[in-house]
Formats: sequence, structure tokens, C-alpha cells
Amino acid sequence: MATDIVLSNAEKKTPQHIAIIMDGNGRWAQAQGKGRVSGHKAGVDSVRAVVQGARKAGIKVLTLFAFSSENWQRPEKEISVLMDLFMFVLTKEVKRLHKNNIRFQVIGDLNRFSDTLQKSITKSEQLTENNTGLVLSIAANYGGRWDITNAAKKLASQVQTNEITLDDINEDSLHKHTCLAQLPPLDLLIRTGGDYRISNFLLWQAAYAEFYFTDVLWPDFNESEFAQAIDVFDQRERRFGKTGEQVVNT
Ligand code: IPE
Ligand code: IPE
Ligand code: MG
Repeated sequence: MATDIVLSNAEKKTPQHIAIIMDGNGRWAQAQGKGRVSGHKAGVDSVRAVVQGARKAGIKVLTLFAFSSENWQRPEKEISVLMDLFMFVLTKEVKRLHKNNIRFQVIGDLNRFSDTLQKSITKSEQLTENNTGLVLSIAANYGGRWDITNAAKKLASQVQTNEITLDDINEDSLHKHTCLAQLPPLDLLIRTGGDYRISNFLLWQAAYAEFYFTDVLWPDFNESEFAQAIDVFDQRERRFGKTGEQVVNT
């Protein structure tokens, strides 16, 4: 009996890196007859729940899409609430993350944020940089197209200064300049809120990720919903271009 348990644990494929498109806050709030803002506030509890779930499941990296490069097109009031919430999380929650040995980082084009917010981000990253537990990346003013363009620009500038030649530009060198390159590859991409699209999230990184879509709205997403997504991942067969037989026999 004990052997059975050991075997089944050994066979379980826990994803190392999970990313989440946390969608559905506005609809959740509307369904309750409240303003969109209350949905964003309620969404913070779901963030806490998935961080907890990720730690329990032994996930190495959790990347959360908090604000896309396209979200600047929303009403000014909503953007301002989202920025305040972000600031709140940075000042209040990061201490707790630090206590739990979590390494916090923000990915995205941070230049567009206020100086106060940028300073707070740097401070939080520095506070937690030597932590060895879960890596929590928050994608803010992030866009997959920006990420790839930015990497291309870095390589181009190295060609310009003769640090590298044109022939040094390949998938590996470009990859090294994209966000999250130093971390394990993305295994599972979850989207809540019922839409089936990537909305310019991790375009490069998701090349071979498994996708999991759920109708559950983000504020209703909890530890058990998260565990369910991990279970579904465990049942997937990842072939990376090979045949099913090849994969089974390796
Ligand atoms: C996701 O929820 C949060 C952000 C994009 C910041 P939404 O605000 O997009 O909620 P819906 O999709 O309108 O319900
Ligand atoms: C994606 O959600 C961005 C985040 C969850 C931060 P959106 O609500 O912005 O996506 P679209 O506009 O429906 O594609
Ligand atoms: Mg949405």
C-alpha cells in the first residue's frame, strides 16, 4: 500500500511554472450589482489563495497578469483604482510574502508607472531578492508583443556596438532577453472568466504551455479551483512535436 502511494506521487507531473490571466473581476462585480472596482478588490483575495495553493503544491514560479499594456485604454477612474490597489499590495502584502520566503518580481514596461510606484516595486524586489521559495512574478503594463520587441531591440543594439554579429541572433539568444528567461519554462497557462484568448500575455513563453480555461470569474477562483487546474495538467500528454508513442516510451 505504501509503495502505491510513493509510486503515484512520483508519477504526478507537478507544473513548475504556472501563469494566470486573472479575468472576470468586472463581471463578478456587475453580477452583484456593484461597481467594477469592488471586483478588483475582491480579486486580491484570489491572489492570496493561489499564492498559498502554489506553495502547497510545490510550484516554483507563479506569474500573474495584473495589468496589460492595453488596459491603459480603460476609464481613467478604473486605472487609478488599479494603481492604488497595486500600491496597497506592494506596501502591505510584500512583507507577508517575504516572511514566507517568496521572491517577488514585476515584469513589464515599468517606465509608464508613477515614480512612487516604480520605487515601491524596486524596494519590494530588493527586499525579497534572496528568498529561495516560490517566485511570484506580477505582469504589469506587460504585453507579449512588447516583450519580444524589447528583446529584439536589445540584440539589435548589441549588433550595433559589435558585441555580437547578425549570426548570433537566434531563438536562444532572443529568448535570453525575454522576460522570465532565467526561470523554468511555462508549463500551464490558466485563464479565468470564460474567454478563450491570450490577450497579448506571454506570447513567446506560451509556445508549448498547456492551456486551461475556466468560466469561473477571478474573484471566485480559490485554492480548490487552482488544485483542479493542476490535476487537469497532470492528465495532459505533452508531446513537443513528437508522436504519442515516442513520448510514452521515454
Ligand atoms: C481582469 O478583470 C482584471 C484586469 C484586466 C485588470 P476585468 O476587469 O477584465 O473583468 P471583466 O473581464 O470586465 O469581467
Ligand atoms: C487580460 O484581461 C488582462 C488581465 C487579466 C490583466 P482583459 O480583460 O484586459 O482582456 P480582453 O480585453 O478581454 O482581451
Ligand atoms: Mg476582462
